[in-house]
Amino acid sequence: MKITNDVIYIGVNDHKIDLFEGQYDVPNGMAYNSYVILDEKIAVFDTVDKKYGDEWLKNLELALNGKVPDYLVVQHMEPDHSANIAVFMEKYPNTMVVGSDKAFLMMKQFFGNDYSQARLIVKDGDKISLGKHEITFYTAPMVHWPEVIVSYDSYDKILFSADAFGKFGALDIEDDWACEARRYYFGIVGKYGMQASKLLEKASALEINIICPLHGPILAENLSYYLNLYKIWTSYEVESDGVVILYTSVYGNTKKAVELLEKELLAAGCPKVTVSDLARSDMHEAVEDAFRYGKLVLATTTYNNDVFPFMRELINELIERNYKNRKVAIIENGSWAPSAQKKIREMLSVLKGIEILDKSVTIRSSMSEENKAEIKELAKLLK
Ligand code: FEO
Repeated sequence: MKITNDVIYIGVNDHKIDLFEGQYDVPNGMAYNSYVILDEKIAVFDTVDKKYGDEWLKNLELALNGKVPDYLVVQHMEPDHSANIAVFMEKYPNTMVVGSDKAFLMMKQFFGNDYSQARLIVKDGDKISLGKHEITFYTAPMVHWPEVIVSYDSYDKILFSADAFGKFGALDIEDDWACEARRYYFGIVGKYGMQASKLLEKASALEINIICPLHGPILAENLSYYLNLYKIWTSYEVESDGVVILYTSVYGNTKKAVELLEKELLAAGCPKVTVSDLARSDMHEAVEDAFRYGKLVLATTTYNNDVFPFMRELINELIERNYKNRKVAIIENGSWAPSAQKKIREMLSVLKGIEILDKSVTIRSSMSEENKAEIKELAKLLK
């Protein structure tokens, strides 16, 4: 697939995968993107997952049409992109491997070879010229590993953005970009918003017509839409107005309270209410929603004098990703010693910019009339 006259897509789709990075559900598979620039000199950008080495090498051979590459640019060493470096170097031994110093350390760790005879270590702002195409490299540490570089082709104005602007899903299935890119971003890069915004800052100085990420579609139109979403996500801003209610319920009584809160919120004029039962929905969709909206309600049962397991998992996922700048309300349920609220407050206290409402609801087994009035009040505070 041609992206421009000289830039060719040689990536692959993975429909065999069940969990990306061993934890993220990918019902629409995954794409591992790789690119070639054909100029006086030829550069290949990244390899693909181990399972797809043969298919990728065939794509590469077709693109090369009898020529041989001069450079293999290794932007990211995570094995979904780096697994075929050794196979590539066996086939094209005269290629120069380009990467950051940390990338070569990782190559040694992963493959026992750091290509010391055939490598070019690049730093922020370093360039290589392929002919018409001049490539500038920018470091992008923690987006999403420390060794990451991105590459800018000033001729076609392409940003090869590594994991940034990626999404879950293979390229032969159409789905909504924002939905799966948001789940991908907050799942994988979310903890490193500060580092990701530094990359955006570097990118803002460049004239970009096309973004070529390592996952997901090539972005060639309406780039301000994608850049604006990335600005919101990387700075932990609220993307959409509304309230997300995440809950667990054992016998349905906490669920009834959640349903009442949803109804009261909508009646009070809340523009959008999103509800998820954490035991029965994708945990990373819940994490994504928590970041998308500015107000979060956690409704859960006390369990073993602690928080019900799925809720504890959610809170740990949020803490791990530096959840911040949000308003949180708590509904707890407990039949003899409700303590979920206290534990949630303790857990969330490590986070910055989280306002936990004083007003909360404590249900004892099932909603009382007083609880119903409290939920109505809570809806007015959150709407
Ligand atoms: Fe797509 Fe961080 O690897």
